[in-house]
Amino acid sequence: MSATTPVRPVLPPDIKARKGGQPLVMLTAYTTPMARLVDPHCDMVLVGDSLGMVLHGLPSTVGVTMEMMILHGRSVMRGLSKAMAVIDLPFGSYEESPQQAFRNAARLMAETGAPSVKLEGGAHMAETIAFLTARGVPVMAHIGLTPQSVNTLGGYKVVGRDDEAAKVMADARACEAAGAFAIVLEKVPQGLTRKITAALSIPTIGIGAGADCDGQVLVIDDMLGLFTDFRPKFVKRYAELGKLADAAIATYAGEVRARAFPGPEHVFADVLPVKAKS
Ligand code: KIV
Repeated sequence: MSATTPVRPVLPPDIKARKGGQPLVMLTAYTTPMARLVDPHCDMVLVGDSLGMVLHGLPSTVGVTMEMMILHGRSVMRGLSKAMAVIDLPFGSYEESPQQAFRNAARLMAETGAPSVKLEGGAHMAETIAFLTARGVPVMAHIGLTPQSVNTLGGYKVVGRDDEAAKVMADARACEAAGAFAIVLEKVPQGLTRKITAALSIPTIGIGAGADCDGQVLVIDDMLGLFTDFRPKFVKRYAELGKLADAAIATYAGEVRARAFPGPEHVFADVLPVKAKS
């Protein structure tokens, strides 16, 4: 390969082909600097509608709009050079009809450059998933706990215990049959996750669904300790950046009040220094 050969971007069929292989790594990102940080380490980067809660202080993802997704999607795309982007269709942008879903999915892809979308819902969204995939929109499905339905689910509960298990399995099979290239399982019990992962030919990506999935996803601000409003059981904190930031900001505030910042190294002289003759 010559130095000028362009690198082919990772596309949904490449992700699908990773079924059963080395686990797929996925994190969310919402901005260019965060995308640059996660890009070298991830197979996929999710511009999740979790950005409504994490960045915009909304009480749930229900208030997230297409404009917010496009703004953050564009920002993330500027920071990616290796990992494949997946962008969430926000609540209200796809549930009404397959046609509405296509219009908004096409807009997200065209205006951000992301090569795939994610939508929440199982068997009842199968017709929409088939409609989109037949028209050039790669779809990642999302079942189990679907946070956009928090108001009908009555909270962020585990989905798929006892009698619910058969429905979650049916949802997974319906999404696969409709053409989804991968499927997120959120807050699904681990035994059921194992069965779904074994039954499907597409990769399962877990969040709170145990280690048997074909990949894992976490919200970046959760795993870095930047979002601390609440902490789901499935989140592992790999760093405590929120605490580090708090300490740094407190030090800055103290130094400003004590006139210790800025120091001599941060200021500009009134006259240019005279250059030494050689
Ligand atoms: O919006 C999001 O970040 C998500 C993940 C939690 C899977 O959908």
